[in-house]
Amino acid sequence: MKIRTNFSLQTLNSLNVPANTPEIFFPTNLEELSELPQSKTAKSYILGEGTNTLFCEKSAPVIIKPSLVGIEVSENEAFFLISAACAENWHDFVLFCVNNGMYGLENLALIPGSVGAAPVQNIGAYGVEVGDFIERITWFDFASQKLSDFSKTDCQFGYRNSLFKQALSGRGIITHVHFALPKAWQAVDSYQGLNEIDSPITPQAIMAKVMQLRQAKLPEPKQLPNAGSFFKNPVVTADFFNKLQKKYPSMPFYKQTNGAIKLAAGWLIEQAGLKGFREAGVGVHEKQALVLINYEGRTGQEVVDFACFIQDKVRSKFNINLDPEVRFIGSDGLTDITSLGIKK
Ligand code: EPU
Repeated sequence: MKIRTNFSLQTLNSLNVPANTPEIFFPTNLEELSELPQSKTAKSYILGEGTNTLFCEKSAPVIIKPSLVGIEVSENEAFFLISAACAENWHDFVLFCVNNGMYGLENLALIPGSVGAAPVQNIGAYGVEVGDFIERITWFDFASQKLSDFSKTDCQFGYRNSLFKQALSGRGIITHVHFALPKAWQAVDSYQGLNEIDSPITPQAIMAKVMQLRQAKLPEPKQLPNAGSFFKNPVVTADFFNKLQKKYPSMPFYKQTNGAIKLAAGWLIEQAGLKGFREAGVGVHEKQALVLINYEGRTGQEVVDFACFIQDKVRSKFNINLDPEVRFIGSDGLTDITSLGIKK
């Protein structure tokens, strides 16, 4: 297995923060996964393409970068069944599906990252979440060194959440994601922007529109280092929302099935006067305020300080806490963000 020591992670995280790991492992198959030393996996961090990760300190923990590739397709009467290995690039995988007549994931085009990372935070965009199309997940468990399968229900998918971010966090690796894409395709085209597509609505037209919308608003990490949405959209009670809406009648909102209301964090940050605001090499994107940009390769700590500042401003204006979507990694692994001054 490929192993490197004292390895720089700056090019392996899309926020471009400097960080070094004492050791990084690149397992490509089950045999190599079994060779990972258990003494090291206990305090390691699993890194996909690093598009949702903030290394907060200059020293990072031991890193495992799963490097399994391959896609297999089969079908039954109603579904295309597609198994993809974790290190496949997400957008390339979406293209593979759409170009081969297997539809459903087109709304998730251009999301940065790998297939294996997609279910961890249940990536979502334009009315679709990846969990909607997952049949099961194959998991390598560090303690037992065995593979097991988790059904979609086992995965406990929620808004930017899953079992892999909760109880299983740090305890193993998603090796393969098994998708079931219905042969009877149904367009999801009600999200703002997609409802402008001329008929006939096709998966290709949705994908093209999604790509156009994303390219117009979301910066390319290679040019402007970022991790997509830095915060999650906050969910508030109907009572809280009703009071706020009286004051801000044009505020965007999304009713949840349980009666709670999801607000748009980007809108809140913009209303706090911070869209395009930039200080000490870190800033809020000019076109989408939910994206923070590390313009000058500043340290993780500087990005953390900037995120705290954004949280404080939004809290003092709206009495709403913005919970980060990005994962904060310190030298010992996943960090309790409250110890950094960030509020949960
Ligand atoms: N808005 C503003 N100002 C801004 C940004 C947004 O007023 O600076 C308003 C928009 O006008 C709109 C609402 O807020 O009314 C929602 O904006 P948008 O459609 O851009 O989506 P979002 O809620 O900001 C979420 C996801 C994105 C995903 C888009 C599209 C989260 C945390 N983010 O963003 O996901 O691409 O919807 O579906 O849920 C990501 O997770 O990294 C990500 C980019």
